[in-house]
Amino acid sequence: MTKKYHIHTFGCQMNVHDSEKVAGILSEAGYGQADSMNDADVIVLNTCSIRDKAEQKFYSELGRLVTVKKDNPNLKIAVAGCIAQQRGEGLFKRFPYVDIIFGPDNINNFQTWIMNGKQDIGQVTKKAALDFNPEYHLKHLPVKRAGKLKAWVSIMYGCDNFCAYCVVPFTRGRERSRSGKDIFNEISALAGQGFREVTLLGQNVNSYGRNLPENMDFPDLLKMIHDIEGLKRIRFVTSHPRDLSEKLISTMKDLPKLCRHIHLPVQSGSDRILNLMNRGYCLEEYKYKTDMLKSAMPDIAITTDIITGFPGETEEDHQCTISTLADIGYDGIFAFKYSRRPGTKALDLPDHVDEKIKARRLSEILTIQEGITYSKNRLLEGKVFDVLVEGVSETDCDKLTGRTGSNKIVNFYGSQNDIGRSLDVKISEAKLHSLVGEKVGNMSCNYL
Ligand code: SAH
Ligand code: SF4
Ligand code: F3S
Repeated sequence: MTKKYHIHTFGCQMNVHDSEKVAGILSEAGYGQADSMNDADVIVLNTCSIRDKAEQKFYSELGRLVTVKKDNPNLKIAVAGCIAQQRGEGLFKRFPYVDIIFGPDNINNFQTWIMNGKQDIGQVTKKAALDFNPEYHLKHLPVKRAGKLKAWVSIMYGCDNFCAYCVVPFTRGRERSRSGKDIFNEISALAGQGFREVTLLGQNVNSYGRNLPENMDFPDLLKMIHDIEGLKRIRFVTSHPRDLSEKLISTMKDLPKLCRHIHLPVQSGSDRILNLMNRGYCLEEYKYKTDMLKSAMPDIAITTDIITGFPGETEEDHQCTISTLADIGYDGIFAFKYSRRPGTKALDLPDHVDEKIKARRLSEILTIQEGITYSKNRLLEGKVFDVLVEGVSETDCDKLTGRTGSNKIVNFYGSQNDIGRSLDVKISEAKLHSLVGEKVGNMSCNYL
C-alpha cells in the first residue's frame, strides 16, 4: 500500500514553498498525500518562530499529535522549519514522540534520509539535521507545487541584516543567492508547464547577487527572466527599503511583466525606533524612495509591515507611525505587536512596552489603515484592470476570483474557461479586502 504524508505549514511564503519541497521529496520517494493526519505514515510540521504566538500554535498542534501517535505507533513525526532550527534537539527531550528534526537549511538532508532509508521513512529514527549549509543554494530539490498557475521560486536563502527584533538570521543562516542560470532554468520549465506568474522569494531580494561570482544584481535578474516566453507576471518579496535602488525602480518601470506592487516593510515611522531596530534607513529616505516609485509608476500599490510597541517606543513614536500610514498611503499593511524572541538584540533593550499598550497601539493602527485601504480601493471603481483568473471565489461559488497586477483580489462573473487566463475586468464596487468587477466586453452575466 502507498505510504502517505501530511504536512502542516506555519509562517511565511518561504515556509509554504519549503513545504512544497518537502512534499516534492516525499512524492519522489513514492508517498501519496494523506486525506488527514489520521491516515498519514509521516507528519511534517513546518514551523515558524517569528513571534511567540506562531511558536505557541506549533506547540498546541504538536500536543494534539500525542493521541494520533498512540493510535498509530508507526507514525513518524518530523519537525522542520524555524522552530526546529532554533530549539534544536531539545525538542526530542521535551517531546519524546518527535522522530525527526531538520532546519530550513537542511531540507536536502531529509531527502538523503528518505532515500537511504530505502524510500521508507519507517527506518528513520531520532535524526536531526541542524548545521547551516553554505552550499544549500546549489541544491536542486524536487518541488510539488500547490497550484498550476502561480509558483514560488527561491532566489536566495538566509538573511544578514540582523534587525534587532528578528530571529530569521538565526534560523535561516547567512545570505546566499542562487545562480541566475539556475533561477532562469527553473522559471523557463515552469512557464513550459503552463505557470503564468512567479513570485521570487528572498528575505531581502534587493541584495540579490552579493555573493555571486558573476556580476549580477536583482534588476539584472529581473531583466533576464523577463524574456521567458509564456510567463506573464513577475512578483517578488521582500524588499528591504535600505537596499531598494533607483536601478530597480527604473527596471520595474520598463518591464511590463513586473507587477505594479511592492511590499516595502517600514516597521516604524519613528527614526529613533528605526535606529534601535537596526533597519539602516530613516523615514526621509523611505519616503524619498516611495515617492520615486510612485512617480515612476503612478498605479503602483505599496504595502508594508509594522511592529507596534518595540522596546522604548513612546506615544510620540507611535504617532509618527500613524502619520506615516497616511503620508505613504499604503494599499494594505500587516501589523504585529512586538514579540520578544530568543537570541535577538532587542531583548536587552531598556523600556519594554506593556502588552496592553502594544495591543492598543496595534488596534489604533489597524483601524486607521482600514480607512486608508478602503479609500484607496474606492479610487479604483470604474477603472479597468488586467486580472489573472485563479479559480472559483471561495466566498461566492457563482463567481470567479483573480488578482490585479497590484495584487488586489477581484471577484466577478465569468465562465470556467476563463480560469488561467488574463482578462480585462472593470471594477464596479470596492470593498475593504477585495473588489467586485465585471468582465469587459461581456456585460451580460455569464454564469458558471
Ligand atoms: N525579511 C522581511 C520580513 C521577514 S519577517 C523584511 O525584512 O521585511 C515578516 C515581518 O514580521 C517583519 O517585517 C516584521 O514586521 C515582523 N516581525 C519580525 N520579527 C518580529 C517580532 N519579534 N515581533 C513582531 N513582529 C516581528
Ligand atoms: Fe528579519 Fe530584518 Fe532579515 Fe527581514 S531583513 S528577515 S526583518 S533580520
Ligand atoms: Fe518565515 Fe517564520 Fe521562519 S516568518 S523565515 S517561517 S520564522
